[in-house]
Amino acid sequence: MKDIVLKKFEEVFGDAEGVKVFFAPGRVNLIGEHTDYNGGHVFPCALTIGTYGVARVREDRKLRFFSMNFERLGIIESSLEELKPSKEAGWTNYPKGVMWAFGEKGYQVPAGMDILLNGNIPNGSGLSSSASVEVVVGAMLREFFGFQVGNQDLALIGQFAENNFNGVNCGIMDQFAIAMGKKDHAIFLDTADLSYTYAPVKMAGAKIVIACSNKKRGLGDSKYNERRSECETALAELQKVVEIGGLGDLSEEQFEEYKSAIKDPVRIRRAKHAVYENQRTIKAVEALKANDIAQFGQMMNASHVSLRDDYEVTGIELDTLVEEAWKVEGVIGSRMTGAGFGGCTVSIVEDGAIDAFIKQVGEAYRAKIGYAADFYVVEIGDGPCIL
Ligand code: GLA
Repeated sequence: MKDIVLKKFEEVFGDAEGVKVFFAPGRVNLIGEHTDYNGGHVFPCALTIGTYGVARVREDRKLRFFSMNFERLGIIESSLEELKPSKEAGWTNYPKGVMWAFGEKGYQVPAGMDILLNGNIPNGSGLSSSASVEVVVGAMLREFFGFQVGNQDLALIGQFAENNFNGVNCGIMDQFAIAMGKKDHAIFLDTADLSYTYAPVKMAGAKIVIACSNKKRGLGDSKYNERRSECETALAELQKVVEIGGLGDLSEEQFEEYKSAIKDPVRIRRAKHAVYENQRTIKAVEALKANDIAQFGQMMNASHVSLRDDYEVTGIELDTLVEEAWKVEGVIGSRMTGAGFGGCTVSIVEDGAIDAFIKQVGEAYRAKIGYAADFYVVEIGDGPCIL
């Protein structure tokens, strides 16, 4: 891939003098969904697919961007004087947002840049292609301008850009999983204080399979923000009767004891998901550490049911993929992953069952939904690097 992006850079920008090549992964969350903005736990991992980037510093303050994923848009020009979000800027709002965010944190980008990106994460799949772009651009700025920031800072700056430049009120999970990724490990992160440990994901005889629904996301972002505010309201209601900083502070028993403080049945279900999913994530990681993959899979399945029935972020596409997966012999666990409303599912499938899984789930999905799903057998990779 390094050769491909270098060659393309040369073709697009005339020469490749002074460039460096970077990579940042995509991510998949194994369990702990919609818990990261509720002070709960998440358990994502970085993938070996992600975003490749070639960059160099310019002598002026111009910014020139090119994406191999949106070739027909050609070179998109801007400058350091124009670090404001705009509709016309399209995908370049992500790199520009990161440059702006560095400035806000006290690291002014001093010179213009030429940047080419090429991602091999399926577009809009819910495997965090935007967070991957944010982290790869952060890694470029750190390298070229000597900014003293660690990988965790790259995650926080990326999230800051996403929240304040691109207007998506996301939690920290995606950027953290990408910036802090470790080969063959998932990250058990407590979003209340950002403490984390790595847990080896060694599943002898099984693999992680991602099924992409190919559903075009429409209302996704606004629904996401709606769920967030439902949880915030529920938290405020609970805080009248119990001293907590986030829904992640409650055990299941405490939630049942105090839930009548929440004055709306829908909000009770939303908060219930946040509390139970957090506890489920803690238990799932314990099961994985004890090598009890079957139990881990059961937790994944229960996570999906809760996201479907209580949090209501699945939809017929994701439900079909998961419910069909559950029917396949050799599937250890299956659930939607990421924000929901479209995007992907993640399944743990025994090696010998992968072909049958792809065939059976794929056929049933096409028959019911009317178009195909895509399947990827993935591996867990490292965080950002210079190639
Ligand atoms: C999106 C957000 C994350 C997280 C997940 C749901 O991926 O970017 O912060 O909230 O949804 O778990």
